Amino acid sequence: MNVHASRHVRARAPADGETQATSARDRALVVCAHPDLAASGFSRPFLEALDESCFAKKALAETYPDWRFDVAREQADLVAAAEIVLLFPVFWYSPPALLQKWLEDVLVDSDGFEQRASLAGKPARMIVSTGGSADEYGPAGKNGHSVEDFLRSLETTLRYVGCVVGPSEVHHAAWRYSEEEVRALAGRFAAERRR
Ligand SMILES: Cc1cc2nc3c(=O)[nH]c(=O)nc-3n(C[C@H](O)[C@H](O)[C@H](O)COP(=O)(O)O)c2cc1C
Repeated sequence: MNVHASRHVRARAPADGETQATSARDRALVVCAHPDLAASGFSRPFLEALDESCFAKKALAETYPDWRFDVAREQADLVAAAEIVLLFPVFWYSPPALLQKWLEDVLVDSDGFEQRASLAGKPARMIVSTGGSADEYGPAGKNGHSVEDFLRSLETTLRYVGCVVGPSEVHHAAWRYSEEEVRALAGRFAAERRR
């Protein structure tokens, strides 16, 4: 895994009178679930490159170093977002444990948030990086399944809570990209979303 200098990704502070939730309205919410951004050569530059006028950005490991989420805030941000984008590396053929814990803690019924109603019709998708190359995935590859197959439980969870799940963007062998190339990929993603 590439190790890069520590760089901190923080969401813009809400302006006076503007809550985190309202500031996110009409923008896609990008939830980055990389547990160690200092060691990330893909998720971190991808997140950094996204323009905050179009994307509300959240790096879970930085906002919640102790993995204790502000559930009400997370739920409000999800409800306010025009679209939910989950950005993460594949660890042991799964989303990182940080993302799993966030799902378990946040996608629960509570005051003002009703599972399967609050997110009904909300577009969602995943942007995923892998260490393995494309030919290692799929039925003919040594891993025997596609990345999409490995992520089926997350996709099903998103559907269960009412999201309309779009195709995942999978970047194989992420170590081969320079940070500049990753930023270009993020720019392409942003441009395609604007179309
Ligand atoms: C604990 C751990 C488990 C990993 N498991 C997998 C895996 O199952 N399949 C795979 O293709 N890559 C695996 N990788 C490689 C990461 O997916 C890869 O390094 C990451 O996507 C690159 O993005 P980053 O630079 O933002 O960390 C693993 C890496 C770590 C640290």
